[in-house]
Amino acid sequence: MDTKSVSIENLSKCDGQSVKLQGWLYNKRGSKGLYFLLLRDGSGLVQCVVNQSEVEESAWRVAEEVTQESAIRIHGTVSQDDRQHGGYEVHVSDLEMISKSEDYPISPKEHGVDFLMNHRHLWLRSQQPWAVLRIRNRVIMAIHGFFQSQGFVQMDAPILTGTAVEGTSTLFEMDYFDTTAYLTQSGQLHGEAMAMAFGKIYTFGPTFRAEKSKTRRHLTEFWMIEPEMAFFDLEMNMDLAESMLQSIVKNVMELCESELAILQRDLEPLKMVSNPFPRITYDTAVELLQSRETAKMFDERQRNLEAELHSLDTEKEEKQKRWGQAKKGEKRRIDTRNNEIQKRTSEIDEELRNLPSWRESAQGFEWGSDFGGSDETVLTWHFDGPIIVHRFPHGFKAFYMKRDPEDDRLALGMDVLAPEGYGEIVGGGERATDLAFLEKQVKEHGLPPEAFRWYFDLRRYGSVPHSGYGLGLERTVAWICGLHHLREAIPFARTMDRLYP
Ligand code: 4AD
Ligand code: MG
Repeated sequence: MDTKSVSIENLSKCDGQSVKLQGWLYNKRGSKGLYFLLLRDGSGLVQCVVNQSEVEESAWRVAEEVTQESAIRIHGTVSQDDRQHGGYEVHVSDLEMISKSEDYPISPKEHGVDFLMNHRHLWLRSQQPWAVLRIRNRVIMAIHGFFQSQGFVQMDAPILTGTAVEGTSTLFEMDYFDTTAYLTQSGQLHGEAMAMAFGKIYTFGPTFRAEKSKTRRHLTEFWMIEPEMAFFDLEMNMDLAESMLQSIVKNVMELCESELAILQRDLEPLKMVSNPFPRITYDTAVELLQSRETAKMFDERQRNLEAELHSLDTEKEEKQKRWGQAKKGEKRRIDTRNNEIQKRTSEIDEELRNLPSWRESAQGFEWGSDFGGSDETVLTWHFDGPIIVHRFPHGFKAFYMKRDPEDDRLALGMDVLAPEGYGEIVGGGERATDLAFLEKQVKEHGLPPEAFRWYFDLRRYGSVPHSGYGLGLERTVAWICGLHHLREAIPFARTMDRLYP
């Protein structure tokens, strides 16, 4: 048989035809004389039906022997079946083993996330990571599409640098011949140089933070997209961030419907992204945190979570009672649901434990401090979609930020906060243009002026108003996918305690 091989995602173009498929066994069910093989080839899943009376003895033996994640080649005829994965099914005429897999460690039963992260090199083959990382791909393409269509040029900033961008406390240091180099925290400073040469640019690259924090919002290596635009003020910068995010989310909702369905993502909050993002100043945000309204929201949240916990408990007890008499199929459904309940329960437990300290932080918030992760979460409770907070006290902001001409205590920064507790996904602002001011800032921030000599040149030779921001790719993907932790938004996460696989 010399049929050309097709990929599963293209089966809809092959209805009624005989095809060759190559991939791995995802799952297998069988009864007398009949096997249902769920094949995955990277592009999707399809059920392949093997009927003993319709195949050679050797093919039947493969169907009997094939184990989870064995590599196989299948010949068969495609037929439409709306009940199946992807709407198609393959009736097998021949089956070959390419390579048998023994004792694949990830079974369909639920594993803990630590176990799965330790087996990330294999876990990538499962449906959930597959859906997430396909969405990541879509987000990346949407970002390029958006900027390219707006006349931006993609420019790479160096990864090895001699300058700190975002403070000195999170730098990864390394020996660089006779001097010290750092892994870049942000491509921004080089982005500014490129914007003066090309007008509107964006960088897209890995960035590094030696962050000694183990929160679910931090990676030590993450990807950042940093547009930088000459002649853009803060207002234009916010407009750009808003339309970029709208374009990304729209793209994903249009082109990743099935991936979002696999993740059981609630689409309502994503639809809200098409509305204008409310823009509030830092001052207003602080008032909001301290407000009576926020206090009420805490009470309500606590009540709702407790009620949800109670109803999950009840459901679990009922399921437990039924389990004894349940048939195999129902047992499997109960197990799956129990795992979901377990996961949600521990999320609720975690939040209930956190609420008192979140409340203290929000209600006792003092003007002049930076928002913590929980403060960002609480702020977004007040809104349905993303919001933009702007004009922060300059004390906790980077040296390069322009001061607000209306109020010298403030820097012209802006952050976009994603809803549903995801917090900051974009950080940026308008840049200082005055050489003397920047020289002073570098000194006050304890940075070595020599390292910034080249950067100061940008203010010497035709300094113009300009702005930019950084979008965290993993934060964006985690939010769009509804993931609890950033580590699942990148193929191989790097955190304080993870360098493998
Ligand atoms: O707010 P940040 O630190 O801003 C900058 O680096 C600016 N120089 C960007 C610019 O104006 N060109 O980081 C920008 C974004 C954050 O909003 C967040 O989404 C992401 O980068 N980010 C992280 N993502 C994962 N892990 C971390 N440790 C991150 N730190 C920042
Ligand atoms: Mg920030």
